[in-house]
Parts: sequence; C-alpha cells; structure tokens
Amino acid sequence: MTVKCIGILTSGGDAPGMNAAIRAVTRAAIYSGMEVKGIMRGYKGLIADEFIPFKTNSVSNIIQQGGTILKTARCQEFMTPEGRKIAYDALVRENIDALVVIGGDGSLTGARIFAQEYNYPIIGLPGTIDNDLQGTDFTIGYDTALNTIMQAVDKIRDTASSHERLFFIEVMGRECGFLALNGAIASGAEAAIIPEVSKKDDQLAKLIDNGFRKSKNSSLVLVTEGDITGGAMKLAERVKNEYPQYDVRVTILGHVQRGGSPTANDRILASRMGAAAIDALNDDQRNVMIGIQNDKIVYVPFSKAVKKNKPFPEDLYNTLQILSI
Ligand code: F6P
Repeated sequence: MTVKCIGILTSGGDAPGMNAAIRAVTRAAIYSGMEVKGIMRGYKGLIADEFIPFKTNSVSNIIQQGGTILKTARCQEFMTPEGRKIAYDALVRENIDALVVIGGDGSLTGARIFAQEYNYPIIGLPGTIDNDLQGTDFTIGYDTALNTIMQAVDKIRDTASSHERLFFIEVMGRECGFLALNGAIASGAEAAIIPEVSKKDDQLAKLIDNGFRKSKNSSLVLVTEGDITGGAMKLAERVKNEYPQYDVRVTILGHVQRGGSPTANDRILASRMGAAAIDALNDDQRNVMIGIQNDKIVYVPFSKAVKKNKPFPEDLYNTLQILSI
C-alpha cells in the first residue's frame, strides 16, 4: 500500500530530542511526497480531532528545543476499545493512512494494540529518557538526561566534599537503572542502587558491609526512583538510623532531567530515526519500532520492544564497582 498521508504525534513523558524527531519525520515524509498532519497532545488529540497540516516550515527552528511542539499527554481513554474506535474514525475522516508515534513503553504499547485491532500501519520511535525499550541501544532523550544528571551530580559533589557528607541522589528511570548506573559512572559516584540488582539483593546492606565510607569522607550514591529500590528518602532514613554519625542528605533531581536542549547525540539519533520511520513505511514495514543497534538502524516489532525487561548491562555495573574502590 502506498502511504499518501501520515499523522505524527508525541505521547507519554516528554523527552529532549522529540522535536528533532518531529522535524525529521515531517521533512523526510514531504521529501517522499507524503502529506503530513501533526496531532496535538498525543492520543488525546487524536480522539479530540486536533489535527494540524504540517509543511516543511512548520518544523523550522525546533531541532534545538526541549519538550515537544506537539505537546504530549498520558491518555486513559485510548486504553479503552471505545476510545480507540473514536481515534480510528478520526484517522479515516482525515484520510491519514499511517501514524508515526514518538513515545515510551506505554505509548508504544497503545500503538501496538491499536495497530492489531484495526490492522492500521504504525511506526514507533523510542522517545523516553528511561532507555528502557528493548531492541534499541538508545532511546531519544536518554543522552541529554544523562548529561543533565552528570552536571547536577558534579555540583552536588562540591557540597558533599566540602561538608564531608553522604548524598543519596534520586534519578528517574521507572524500573530501569540505566540513568542511575551510567550517571554514576559518568560522575564518578560511589554506587548506583538500581532496580535490576535491588530485585535480588539488598544493595544498601552490601554497601554498608563493605564499608563504603571507610576510605572516603564524602560519598555520592545514585538511586533509581520507585518501590523496587525504595527511593533515596527511604535509603537515607535507613542509614541515618543505623549510622547517626553520618551526615546524610538527599537530592531528588525530578523533572529537571526531562528538560533542556537536546545533546548532539540525541539530535542526530532523533534525525536518523525520524528519517528511518519514513523509509520503513516506504519499505512496507508495519507495526515496528525504529531502533539502533551497533550504530545501525533496525526495525523492532512492537511485540519485542515493549513490556520487556531490557537486558541489564552487567559489565557496566562491575566497572562501577571496580572504579569506586
Ligand atoms: O518515562 C519517563 C519518566 O520521566 C519516568 O522516568 C518517570 O517515572 C515518569 O516519566 C514521570 O512521569 P510524570 O511526568 O507523568 O510524573
């Protein structure tokens, strides 16, 4: 089937580089002779008929901007068959014959269900700071968030060192420890408490047993948010109770990690993936996420990309342990 008109939307948590992806998809589609319609507010806007015709200059001057010019939302209605029916009718009415969805695990899960239900062509782009989608080495936004974390931890280190304190720094990532682990390596932190390891081990107990502060007056520990690790606040409380002599502080980095101008890596990744989404449609690919593996663009079926635990980089975890002696 020849695709004549595509719709493009961003969904779920915003991620730096989403605008670069919107730009690339739009320009590559127009270059291929397709018409493009921007859909505002993710699946919400699809249900509420929020379509905007896009021309090449609709995406001018956005490659450097964080956030998403299309806005984004987490849409409960799209999780229901009734909501998806309204969305499908809107696409038919607008003569849109394929969708490009930029988002994370939840958004691509929605895309997968919709694509199956209506036999409708969708290409996904992995847009999330969490780097938790399988089948791609990197997601759009991860590199920028990692750099934001590194810069924040560098600053916290000044206080940790001056006051000889122990800091627990909480970062995002849901159930995935990539941001904490690589953030810790990049900033020279002592440890990363991450879901993949916390599931099996009491990491804090091990750190204490190993005397992680014996040879150091200050320490930085990065912690992935959420129930599996317990979060930075709870871990700090435990240490304070057991070791009242430690001067413990907590910093929760929060949404600062989602903002800002994308790094060169994220802009390039988003541009490559955006152009690849149009190649995929022209190659008659359907219901795949664009991924990158060993610097090569790959097509990953939705069923392999979402709701899976991305293999945990054991080697990086070992490296962190060796380097923090
Ligand atoms: O998926 C991206 C992410 O930033 C997660 O790391 C975090 O748990 C979540 O979104 C926060 O979502 P919200 O902005 O809706 O609070």
